[in-house]
Amino acid sequence: MAAMHFLVVGGAGYIGSHVVRAFLDRGDRVTVFDDLSSGKRGNLFPDASFVEGSTLDADVLAACLGGAEFDGAVHLAAFKAAGESMTDPMKFATNNLCGAVNVLNALVAAGVKRLVFSSTAAVYGEPKYVPMDEMHPTNPENFYGFSKLEMERVMSWYDRLMGVRFAALRYFNAAGFDPAGRVRGLESSVTNLLPVIMEVATGQREKLQVFGTDYDTPDGSGVRDYIHVSDLASGHLAAMDRLIEHDESLTVNLGTGQGTSVLEMLKAARRISGREITAQMCPRRAGDPSAVYAKATRANDLLGWTPRHSDLETLVESTWAVYRHD
Ligand code: WQD
Repeated sequence: MAAMHFLVVGGAGYIGSHVVRAFLDRGDRVTVFDDLSSGKRGNLFPDASFVEGSTLDADVLAACLGGAEFDGAVHLAAFKAAGESMTDPMKFATNNLCGAVNVLNALVAAGVKRLVFSSTAAVYGEPKYVPMDEMHPTNPENFYGFSKLEMERVMSWYDRLMGVRFAALRYFNAAGFDPAGRVRGLESSVTNLLPVIMEVATGQREKLQVFGTDYDTPDGSGVRDYIHVSDLASGHLAAMDRLIEHDESLTVNLGTGQGTSVLEMLKAARRISGREITAQMCPRRAGDPSAVYAKATRANDLLGWTPRHSDLETLVESTWAVYRHD
């Protein structure tokens, strides 16, 4: 495919920067739009253009989209802390709903008809069965998941009424860093398992609390589907290519289909880091399901996508490589 130009909204964030890197690696042009509220200046690459702005500022969005011809856009600028979404829903409504609608409207006004959208497995809520396919009922348990599902619905109407084709990518548990070490921006105030383990390994945190050891899983700890962020990135490229080749929207899971337990992750981190990593067995965390993992065959069927970096070794090694030097 000839080089194209893509707008990546939220391109300075953890996942966004990996998406930008992947587009640049294959020779595409990229413009990043980000307000740097959680994205990092250090995640910007010199070979991409950068517009600093908020999705809540329709004028800046319009100026950005009016200033160039884009073949498509990726929207990842959203808040993602599920717990916080339950205590501060207005923050999530404003950014994840109003901001996303502003992006959609600006795309329509500029005649850009392809959008790859960062969605989440949180749209499903409590698993009724695993592996979870895309037909699994959607019943989000937190406002974060609701905000993403609501945007999927809005995009369906924009598809129908205005011909905006979208790819909603329902990520499972994103983890890892660029195996080539080109993305090094650490997220602040982390709560996700692997970053927490890493903070214990480097001494920034005293211990890992293992939330639940009495689940109905092989070792009693919670099981999740950890998908390497570079695999997520290649999924965005494959989804964009699909939108370019087919005039049709799609919704797909991005996961590995494999579950990994908290204790397996801890063991791998101890081995790879060579650090002790103190852990304390604790009660279950409220609202946590025992096992969540994807049926990931649709992404393979529709996009020809397969994860290549999501083995436990690469997930932990690529994350440790960033944390150990921080
Ligand atoms: C993973 C496993 C914990 C921390 C959340 C959001 C979800 C999605 C991804 C964006 C669980 C256990 C964790 C710790 C632990 N976000 N754990 N000690 O809860 O699966 O999903 O992030 O789309 O919407 O809800 O991810 O990384 O918090 O937990 O034992 O200190 O690790 O109980 O089994 P989760 P997580």
